[in-house]
Amino acid sequence: MRALIAGTGGYLPARSVSNDELAAWKGLDTTDSWIAERTGIRCRHIAAEGETASDLGARAALAALAQAGAGVEEVDAILVATSTPDSAFPATAVRIQGKLGITRGFGFDLAAACTGFVYALGVADALIRTGQARGVLVIGTEVYSRILDWTDRGTCVLFGDGAGAVFLRGVAAEHAGGRGLLSSHLHADGRFGDILHVDGGAGSNGGTGVVRMAGREVFKHAVTKLAAAVDEALAANGLGHADIGWLVPHQANLRIIEAMGKKLHLPLERVVVTVDRHANTSAASIPLALAEATRDGRIQRGDLVVMEAIGGGLTWGATLARF
Ligand code: UT7
Repeated sequence: MRALIAGTGGYLPARSVSNDELAAWKGLDTTDSWIAERTGIRCRHIAAEGETASDLGARAALAALAQAGAGVEEVDAILVATSTPDSAFPATAVRIQGKLGITRGFGFDLAAACTGFVYALGVADALIRTGQARGVLVIGTEVYSRILDWTDRGTCVLFGDGAGAVFLRGVAAEHAGGRGLLSSHLHADGRFGDILHVDGGAGSNGGTGVVRMAGREVFKHAVTKLAAAVDEALAANGLGHADIGWLVPHQANLRIIEAMGKKLHLPLERVVVTVDRHANTSAASIPLALAEATRDGRIQRGDLVVMEAIGGGLTWGATLARF
């Protein structure tokens, strides 16, 4: 079996907050130019009061199903990557199942911070290849605004809220024409757990922990580990840099994204960038970028798409897909 990306969808909360607004609104000692020059971020979306990860995720899921032309009866499993679940349990995936009116199949959440969507794609691919599910919704959804220390200018300006989803449809390999998820390459190294972590319980519906990050330390790991994961994925499929159609990277910092483009010998026009408008939406950033680039016609059928991410854990990884 092969897992085809049959549909993509994204959802952003209505309210967009610019750097200037944020500085004025939260009274932070920061400037638009510092944020834009160091990160490429110009604004981010912030969820409305009471809007949770399952609310955002359900909307993104419906958009992905609509693009796939799939009804909810096709959904056998829902995987949600999130660091801001509605609550410890029920899983946000099952909350979303309820919101979509689905009463069969199964769902669970997966915690790998900003790498969550890449991890979830790897798990969903395995479920499909082993025949445990045929239609799988993979959702990244985050309400980071609820787990930020709004007095810490070193972290709070970097993140935003949003959700993205893909609907994967299993098809027999002989009918896939080489399309679908090719492979996922997942990594973790717990020795670096403290350089990016949440210092307490977290949830999109009220929690006690906030994000703590030694940004410069994380930065040092990012490009080397991401480039190695992408090269590992390409080599596993007998492919090289010249085969890449699009890079859809995790959107944490434009400087990291540009450095990855250079490492992979890709011009910036072949890299999907949303960090300027979305900031870092953690597990939601890749599926949000995918939704944008499939809807505006940049990503076309047959294109080889590379997805990569690094985040708290440290966790990192890369997935290759032929659209
Ligand atoms: O998604 C998970 C993965 N996360 C990442 O990939 C993040 C990786 N790290 C980064 O993107 C960058 O390290 C940051 C954007 C977080 C920070 O950029 P930096 O160039 O590493 O800056 P820095 O943390 O070394 O701080 C430089 C200066 C400091 O002032 P002093 O000590 O030089 O006087 C900070 O206090 O900038 C100051 N600063 C700020 N100034 C204005 C830190 N945050 C701000 C701010 N506004 N928001």
